[in-house]
Amino acid sequence: MKVLIVGSGGREHAIAFSVAKSPRVDKIYCAPGNGGIGQIAECVPIGAMEFDKIAAFAREKKIDLTIVGMDDPLVGGLVDVLEAEGLRAFGPRKNAAILEGSKAFSKDLMKKYHIPTADYENFDNAEDALRYLETAKFPIVLKADGLALGKGVLICNSLEEARDGVRSIMMDKKFGSAGNRMVIEEFLTGREVSVLSFVDGKTIRIMTSAQDHKRALDGDQGLNTGGMGTFSPSPFYTPEVDAFCQKYIYQPTVDAMAAEGRTFKGVIFFGLILTPDGPRVLEYNARFGDPEAQVVLPRMKNDLIDVCEACIDGTLDQVSLEFENNAAVCVVLASAGYPVSYEKGFLIKGLERFDHADGYYCFHAGTKRTEEGIVTNGGRVLGITAKGRDLKEARANAYQATEWVSFPNQYMRHDIGKAIDEA
Ligand code: AMP
Ligand code: GLY
Repeated sequence: MKVLIVGSGGREHAIAFSVAKSPRVDKIYCAPGNGGIGQIAECVPIGAMEFDKIAAFAREKKIDLTIVGMDDPLVGGLVDVLEAEGLRAFGPRKNAAILEGSKAFSKDLMKKYHIPTADYENFDNAEDALRYLETAKFPIVLKADGLALGKGVLICNSLEEARDGVRSIMMDKKFGSAGNRMVIEEFLTGREVSVLSFVDGKTIRIMTSAQDHKRALDGDQGLNTGGMGTFSPSPFYTPEVDAFCQKYIYQPTVDAMAAEGRTFKGVIFFGLILTPDGPRVLEYNARFGDPEAQVVLPRMKNDLIDVCEACIDGTLDQVSLEFENNAAVCVVLASAGYPVSYEKGFLIKGLERFDHADGYYCFHAGTKRTEEGIVTNGGRVLGITAKGRDLKEARANAYQATEWVSFPNQYMRHDIGKAIDEA
């Protein structure tokens, strides 16, 4: 069969890698893809938000399955556009992708269906938000309602900081129209865990757990980024935590969406925080995490195509997910200056070393193929991933493999997965 993947990051490279392993797949296309994805798929120069062009391409090439990796096209309704053309697509429809597209929606859903999350209020104007802050406890968390590249969350330690935050989100529109509404919520403390799941509208199957390192600098310092590295599984995701989440979070979320007439098919990503009072949902995403996908998918034994089709067809109850009994660590090699400003266009050396190294992966996040070779083309450039028998070994392997490649301006964190040593 022919598969089209929509997106251009490390997540889409990891998806393409898994799709390529399926004996059912003859040809992979990716719109728009990147330098690394181009080694296993044919990249087509169509942007992820060019819905009409994507649909026309899928029709013309007789694509059997389109996998939408990115949040923007999901929230914008690409799956609806493809389905209207009679094409098969993996991912939630627009009315279900709102689970990620609007934080105010997801908070109200959790409140209505008693799914554990931080206490909050939603606001659609700055005056009310500023008035609310007068009697609030600090620290407090401000969230722009819409998509903001993972940057729309501000943790404020004082009234002054929070006032500035409300003004920048709602008045200065720092995150654009994502800030037309906002959520103000209680600050929670605890370990964070990312749990990805497949959902077919009724049944939910949980993948192995992972943890992301969102801050730019070692020791969880610096600005929030899209993610500087991940490890899987999380030793903090114990059987007790799993049992709690199965009962109070996972199935209740799927049932809540169905009850609202927003049947969810695709991947739900649960951003959890393990507080002293038990697990709470920090956020939902309607897609694979990035870089979580880079440590979770390489450990999955199932044929990804089979699982995606079971989600579309509503037969996920007949699927049992299997993961290797090992661990994986992904270290992001970024351009110095990310997430603020950085240069790109530098030649990357050493990539071929990964071609024949079993258990090692070089997922491309921001790269481009040029006549001179593959060059850097983004803030996050590569996701260097390695497996090991346990997290310690996977971590040592991943850091060793970061030395195989080089490019000017290279930056990485040195403590990805280090928290696991304390577990
Ligand atoms: P989100 O995009 O909602 O996952 O938020 C990004 C990051 O902000 C999370 O990974 C947390 O580290 C932090 N965060 C979000 N909400 C809260 C909260 N209620 N309490 C503490 N930290 C939070
Ligand atoms: N790594 C977090 C995300 O994909 O949103």
